[in-house]
Amino acid sequence: MQTTAERTVTENRDAFPILGTDYIEFYVGNAKQAAHYYQTAFGFEWVAYKGPETGCTDFCSYVLQQQKIRFVLTSAFRPDHEIAQHVMRHGDGVKTLAIGVEDAREAYKMAIERGAESVFEPRKTDDHDGNVVTAGIRTYGDTIHVLVERSAYGGAFLPGYQPRKSLVAVRSTGLKHVDHCVGNVELGQMNRWVRFYQDVMGFKLLITFDDKDISTEYSALMSKVVANGSGYIKFPINEPAPGKRKSQIEEYVEFYRGAGVQHIAIETDNILQTVDQLRKNGVDFLYVPDSYYDNLTERVGVIEENFDEIRRLNILVDRDEDGYLLQIFTKPVQDRPTVFYEIIQRKGARSFGKGNFKALFEAIEREQALRGNL
Ligand code: FE2
Repeated sequence: MQTTAERTVTENRDAFPILGTDYIEFYVGNAKQAAHYYQTAFGFEWVAYKGPETGCTDFCSYVLQQQKIRFVLTSAFRPDHEIAQHVMRHGDGVKTLAIGVEDAREAYKMAIERGAESVFEPRKTDDHDGNVVTAGIRTYGDTIHVLVERSAYGGAFLPGYQPRKSLVAVRSTGLKHVDHCVGNVELGQMNRWVRFYQDVMGFKLLITFDDKDISTEYSALMSKVVANGSGYIKFPINEPAPGKRKSQIEEYVEFYRGAGVQHIAIETDNILQTVDQLRKNGVDFLYVPDSYYDNLTERVGVIEENFDEIRRLNILVDRDEDGYLLQIFTKPVQDRPTVFYEIIQRKGARSFGKGNFKALFEAIEREQALRGNL
């Protein structure tokens, strides 16, 4: 395969200090049942709740946590509610990528000055555990970023949420933190959103993959990765490229009814244990054929993990100039072929598994074909 990926580092600096991913909020059809899935399948703990019992009569939110990852699952009670409308259009999906900042008012002011579109102005909310300042700006599709300043808050999640504990026995699967969040955008829109992250947030363009890097016999896509100065926040943006058949990105955009979050990559320190447990819990993964492992050692060199276990669990391996990484991708986690997860363990490597793109996209296309969408 011809190599055209470029590592591009521009001189941009963050427009405002960013602390990391604060939370990811999903709008879903049934938050109570989704919360059960994330507890029993992915090993998240239930930590906070908002709903009728806490005085919120329009919607309910379940907050789940595993180490540094915080997911919020939200459902509305009325069909005309914005949350219900979002679910009707997009199916279950990511509404909010919340970013922790030192000063939400200042970050919002900077973002707006630099061209961001407002969702809501800075607002301070408080309860007996302190106060939080949040503000919202738009990104691709109906997705938004909420800027969260929580240094003066000691509660379970945000003011108005009550602490909760899981009702089932939760066993952690070793998921640690969000490594990157990938957005799929419509044909021709990738550069617009890359520029948004550069101009509004001061992010750097890290890597460019063109359709020569990411193509199979049937479909192709292009991708650019932007990251903040610390590298804690990485947002790859994909767009479809012309191919013989329908690109996986086109399938996503068709079923999501627009641009949105495609996958969330979560890091673990022990991918063998994590994936073994996730499989036992019923999480289903994309399948790569056994032939992938035929010349793996020649391709990636010496690795510390047990090769037979890697093959048994169907984990992918790739090496770059800094080290290697192990990764695996779930199938979509809702009825539509939209959001899925990547589980990743980095052993020095800072890249995204380019050597696995072909095997991965062929695996996705097998699923597309089964759905009748290739
Ligand atoms: Fe990824």
